[in-house]
Amino acid sequence: MSTVPATAGDDLVFPPPPEFAARANVGADEHARAAADPEAFWAEQAGRLQWDEPWHTVFDGSTLPTAQWFVGGKLNVAVNCVDRHVAAGRGDKVALHWEGEPGDSRTITYAQLQDEVCRAANALQELGVGHGDRVVLYLPVLPETIVTTMACARIGAVVSLVFGGFSAEALRFRVEDTGAKLLVCTDGQFRRGQAVSVKGAADAAVEGLDHVEHVLVLRRTGDLTPDVPWTPGRDVWWHDVVDRQSTEHDAPSFDSENPLFIIYTSGTTGKPKGLVHTSGGYLTHTSWSHWAVFDVKDDDVYWCQADLAWVTAHSYEMYGPLSNGTTQVIYEGSPLTPHPGRHFEVIEKYGVTTYYTAPTLVRTFMKHGPELPARFDLSSLRLLGSVGEAINPEAWLWLHREVGGGRCPIVDTWWQSETGAAVVAPLPGVTPLKPGSGTVPLPGLAATVVDDAGRETAPGETGVLVITRPWPGMARTVWRDHDRFVKSYWEPYAEQGWYLAGDAATKDADGYVWIGGRIDDVLNVSGHRLSSIELESALVAHPRVAEAAVVGAPDGTTGQRIVAFVITRGDAAGASDAALAEELRAHVAAAIGPVAKPRDVVVVPDLPKTRSGKIMRRLMADMTAGRGGGDVTSLQDETALAAVETAWAAYTASRAGA
Ligand code: PRX
Repeated sequence: MSTVPATAGDDLVFPPPPEFAARANVGADEHARAAADPEAFWAEQAGRLQWDEPWHTVFDGSTLPTAQWFVGGKLNVAVNCVDRHVAAGRGDKVALHWEGEPGDSRTITYAQLQDEVCRAANALQELGVGHGDRVVLYLPVLPETIVTTMACARIGAVVSLVFGGFSAEALRFRVEDTGAKLLVCTDGQFRRGQAVSVKGAADAAVEGLDHVEHVLVLRRTGDLTPDVPWTPGRDVWWHDVVDRQSTEHDAPSFDSENPLFIIYTSGTTGKPKGLVHTSGGYLTHTSWSHWAVFDVKDDDVYWCQADLAWVTAHSYEMYGPLSNGTTQVIYEGSPLTPHPGRHFEVIEKYGVTTYYTAPTLVRTFMKHGPELPARFDLSSLRLLGSVGEAINPEAWLWLHREVGGGRCPIVDTWWQSETGAAVVAPLPGVTPLKPGSGTVPLPGLAATVVDDAGRETAPGETGVLVITRPWPGMARTVWRDHDRFVKSYWEPYAEQGWYLAGDAATKDADGYVWIGGRIDDVLNVSGHRLSSIELESALVAHPRVAEAAVVGAPDGTTGQRIVAFVITRGDAAGASDAALAEELRAHVAAAIGPVAKPRDVVVVPDLPKTRSGKIMRRLMADMTAGRGGGDVTSLQDETALAAVETAWAAYTASRAGA
């Protein structure tokens, strides 16, 4: 188990600014009120939504670990996110300020969004998509990405968004695993200022998959990526089928437990798993937590900077903010293109009040110095947020001071693809903040830190984070692999019925949760979850690699960086290590995506293994972190570790000299 590093922030406490607390949505008694009767609390929050039929049972635990919430209730998620606000006379309110990477922009009101969603829903139905069918989106951050996601919810289709930076192979796995009927993509995408074509990758991803009936293609890069490959009959242009549709669409009601989306995430074993989230409970948790944690006000301009394909964006850039009728900024591009101050420019342009970001980005900004944010007027900001990994106190303090002007609380939100929405997070008008800690579980949520036997750890003692009571936003299963759902999360503490989150953690004397590293073989690179085993599988699929071990080494900007130790096949002799490293990086990028490229590739003669033949990644991770002295008693052959240490020392020395 990795240990939780001593933090510099645990002696610093930032109470809520009085003027913030005075206006906050949620007051100091909320934790106690929810704890007194969690089901009544969640029923009250579900009541913030529009139900077509009321539920008869708030929570049914008889089918755990597949919980059921608001059983018997019926609703339409898209109506809750869009139509409801128009019906309430708020149709002219801006839903989206979209900023494209090349500088183009669009502003869309809730009334316009409703028209767009209805058109898209009609188009999906014309293409044969119906209730329960799966639709995969391979789209950048565009209004149409949100429109299509909402259109799926409206007609009861299950949507799965795939990051545009993922390879054709990674996309294909998701299209195949979901058994999607429809793939929606663009002709091309902008990546760091360059227009790159996408349709070829989309074609490769669906080739030979009979269940894919259509590929719906949205024009984005146009003349910059000409010669879009086309399969007549299967491929259709968005502007041909969507634009001519009616803006009227009758939204049916769906059961509270109707599947809403599938999100793929890396686990301990080879293939990503598709977590299934459902409707009523997910939207309740997401909508309430967005309102409470981001202290949503009617005049807010809220910006979550995540790509729409990440879970962060599902909950806090789509379902959450839209259900609250929030005005949002969404931004297509890379944060550093065309210049490193682009995010601050966007905050100034739209008067952003709430900026939800990631530690890795904060550390990137820090490299440019405080002069970077100082060039812009950031006085509109009133609240900041962080997600994806533990934020180091230095980055927290920098964000607080240089971006937030010392006046904005920072909500550090701990959660996962599996949890659906925030679990450990402050209420900004209530919870005193400690830089680097997500603070305490939200009202209605119960999480703690325990040891292997399930005993709560003493303050400062490292254990694992568990969620001890079912909650509305929890994933219900892994798509087509329920066993994996049970085994991964629920078996370790089956006796207690607790959910194992997979993170090491400590609690301090005030009950604040401090997250450490993962307890499994999951890496966190710039807030992206990647599995060691998935990366190793990609590497050994290369003809020149016999064996591979992948570990995460500490990195000042990306949190962790990927280090791959590889044993080459005999015929690789003669190739320089540098050339091989480049080849393997390109190979992994093609298999998974550029985010998965190993930063360091070290050729080794052998790998340390247990007597049962399992690679001991922990020892190599300790070595790359400069920690020694790990337990080597279960090693099959100690000379293997010595050989890796020698290779690592030579590699780091050569890099230092380069
Ligand atoms: O290790 C924790 C880390 O990210 C993991 C979840 O990754 P994913 O499912 O991709 O969702 C990321 C966005 C919600 C967690 O198990 N993590 C996420 N947020 C935090 C965090 N670690 C510490 N502090 C956080 N605020």
